[in-house]
Amino acid sequence: MTDAPWALLAELTHACPLHCPYCSNPLELVRRDAELDTAEWARVFAEAAGMGIVQAHISGGEPLLRRDIVQIVEAAHDAGVYTQLVTSGLGLTSRRLDDLVRAGLNSVQLSVQDARAESSDLIAGRTSFRAKERAAGVIAAAGLPFGLNVVLHRHNLDRLQEILDLGARWGADRIELANAQFYGWALRNRTALLPAREQLDRAKEIVAAHDGSGPEIVWVLPDYYEGVPKPCMGGWGARSITVGPDGTALPCPAAYAMPDLAPPNVRDHSLAWIWAESPAFNAYRGTGWMTGPCRECPRRETDFGGCRCQAFALTGDAARTDPACGLSPDHHLVRDAAEAAGSVAGSGFAYRRPPPVR
Ligand code: SF4
Ligand code: FES
Repeated sequence: MTDAPWALLAELTHACPLHCPYCSNPLELVRRDAELDTAEWARVFAEAAGMGIVQAHISGGEPLLRRDIVQIVEAAHDAGVYTQLVTSGLGLTSRRLDDLVRAGLNSVQLSVQDARAESSDLIAGRTSFRAKERAAGVIAAAGLPFGLNVVLHRHNLDRLQEILDLGARWGADRIELANAQFYGWALRNRTALLPAREQLDRAKEIVAAHDGSGPEIVWVLPDYYEGVPKPCMGGWGARSITVGPDGTALPCPAAYAMPDLAPPNVRDHSLAWIWAESPAFNAYRGTGWMTGPCRECPRRETDFGGCRCQAFALTGDAARTDPACGLSPDHHLVRDAAEAAGSVAGSGFAYRRPPPVR
């Protein structure tokens, strides 16, 4: 029998005021008029709680662009699920946060693009840093558990210490240093975003030298440089369900890009069926699907063969060993890109474009 998932990533909308060139949303964004309504989300949370899911990341796009965000949080809370709002901070006033806390919101993860306003705004594709600073003040004043998420790449890695100082100054409890992962928008912008190895080496020294005071620091593996794949999603269909704005259910938010996956939709099936029975969630579950070096590898129960989305994005076959792995016959695809990174001038960002509006 399949173990129950632990977390639900609820992508309420792909609409967003920002245009980050590494956005984890798909290249084809869901239209606003296709989004699940309040009652449909309430049913999803009730089913999630019934399956034993304990935590929902209420995300987007920008979830605060949903006019019914308070009712959606309330539905998740009433179902008995711990809720975390994942937000750009734009539109997060203290009145709005008060309403959300009254509805049962448990924690907030705020994104920031850099430690300085000018470069943060350049990466976000619009003026936004000061609004984020105000949002951080609102979250800290509310006393909620406060995570700061920073995607790291060539254009901000050199300011890692300033980023850590910013997180401490803003009152974050935890800073997630998410080295950019290259699929979707980030793959499109890979030349501009890939850091030089020396930048990463200096960043790792800063993280290693951190004395443990202040916010907890989480370092997400820069897999292009390590020769070791990440245990992506804790394994395919092992820990987490993503439900997209239109009800598409995926084992991973980046799996939108796999054309043959045929993901199920919560409008057609129960979450329990989707998790346990759907072909999409079973496609790369466990180790039986493995090919090439993964099949005999002692690490196969540790890293699950790496990332299926990366294998698909770089080789066209999601069942191949993740090219980030040094044992993969496709490893040159990653190694060559990483080695060229320091010598190639950034080509400018292809910013995420907004989805069509209703
Ligand atoms: Fe992981 Fe497969 Fe590489 Fe082994 S061969 S380390 S299981 S990705
Ligand atoms: Fe989809 Fe890694 S991002 S499995």
